[in-house]
Amino acid sequence: MVTRTSIGPASASPRRHSRTHPALVFGLTALLAGAGVTALSGTADAASTLGSAAAGKGRYFGTAVAANHLGETPYVSTLDTEFGSVTPENEMKWDAVESTRNSFTFGAADQIVGHAQGKGMKIRGHTLVWHSQLPGWVSGLAAGDLRTAMNNHITQVMQHYKGQIHSWDVVNEAFQDGSSGARRSSPFQDKLGNGFIEEAFRTARAADPAAKLCYNDYNTDGVNAKSNAVYAMVKDFKARGVPIDCVGFQSHFNSASPVPGDYQTNLQRFADLGVDVQITELDIEGSGTSQATSYGNVVKACLAVSRCTGITVWGVTDKYSWRSSGTPLLFDGNYTKKPAYDAVLTALGGSGSGSGGGTAACSVSYSKATEWSDRFNGTVTVTAGGSAISGWSTTVTVTPPQKISATWNGTPTWDSGGNVMTMKPNGNGTLAAGASTSFGFTVMKNGSGAAPTLGACTAS
Ligand code: G3I
Repeated sequence: MVTRTSIGPASASPRRHSRTHPALVFGLTALLAGAGVTALSGTADAASTLGSAAAGKGRYFGTAVAANHLGETPYVSTLDTEFGSVTPENEMKWDAVESTRNSFTFGAADQIVGHAQGKGMKIRGHTLVWHSQLPGWVSGLAAGDLRTAMNNHITQVMQHYKGQIHSWDVVNEAFQDGSSGARRSSPFQDKLGNGFIEEAFRTARAADPAAKLCYNDYNTDGVNAKSNAVYAMVKDFKARGVPIDCVGFQSHFNSASPVPGDYQTNLQRFADLGVDVQITELDIEGSGTSQATSYGNVVKACLAVSRCTGITVWGVTDKYSWRSSGTPLLFDGNYTKKPAYDAVLTALGGSGSGSGGGTAACSVSYSKATEWSDRFNGTVTVTAGGSAISGWSTTVTVTPPQKISATWNGTPTWDSGGNVMTMKPNGNGTLAAGASTSFGFTVMKNGSGAAPTLGACTAS
């Protein structure tokens, strides 16, 4: 939940309106059903999706996909409409495909690959050699046997998908966090030594010569000790002819680990070694304008680096994210486009980007501010989409017997039941593309602490 400056009911604001709507009535729950917390107006067409906009820039725009959601209609339609590449989130990992030695099960991964191919999407392979999601039998092997098992795993999995995967994360997360620049302890590192990484890459090249072979890691997104260590490894590989084609930057960001100021610089220095760079697992915790700005900056950084060949976000919808509570993705739990979506599309030069073809659109997000025993303040942030707007309108619905007792920075009208407030601007209707304003209100709880729900934002 975003914390914002509170404006308590006792501290009158210049634009505050007294609440004069009729007494509340009960039984209007139907009005609440299905109301999204965040909503965006405007329509997408073939020229204004993430995948098509990225393709226009010579890049792919993909998402992690989980096979067990492929039966959910809005999940699939969002995937199929917006994305041009998929990465199986867990289904190609060692524990998923070879939980028993030399017995391979590709069912769930094949499901994703088949779906993607049916829609003409590209496929990233994730991941072949990783210390995590590793079956117990692998960790128990002695060095010689482990080497055989590692090479067999790489070979079998890559040959199964030969010619179908554009890039493989051959080795994942092999370096320690922090300042040491050392390799992470793992069965591979501990028993085979530093050489396991290049051996994995050589085996991978032989198994599927057409696939781009990537090293993938997190906390390597800016210039730091860990990325310096990866950089030194890649430089050494290139100098010695070890087959490596790309470096993946996972890019999991939140307030404790924001998008680094030298993100683009870091991507560029790797690209200058003669490898492609890819943003492989992008998610940014947050909401509203700040989240949108960060997403836009990541996309701009990739576009500014000619060898940054694509971006993958780590999931379709906030509700299935591995960091779900941080709402880090481009679509909310109702598959509604968030301001971050607009920012990405705009940065990709999508048709909603304001260069004449944009549809007036806006989005809204809610955050609770100060709460007292009997009431709380809510803030709604209104953000213009890819085009400037000159007006906006949205609804705020509270749960009876809750009652809105005050509002500020907006012009409210009320439905006859009194629990649905339509809010329009009060001098703050004109917004540049991507810009935001906010309005606020006080909710008298009357026994219920339920969060208000927002309707769609309508722009003019
Ligand atoms: O499928 C089982 C389910 O049957 C069971 O009931 C449930 C109980 O915990 O677990 C389910 O499996 C979980 C799986 O996700 C599918 O939801 C695993 O416990 C859970 O550990 C696994 O987490 C995955 C995580 O990697 C494992 O390390 C996340 O989904 C996945 O997003 C995450 O992805 C990683 C990348 O591969 C590498 N980079 C970091 C990134 C985020 O951690």
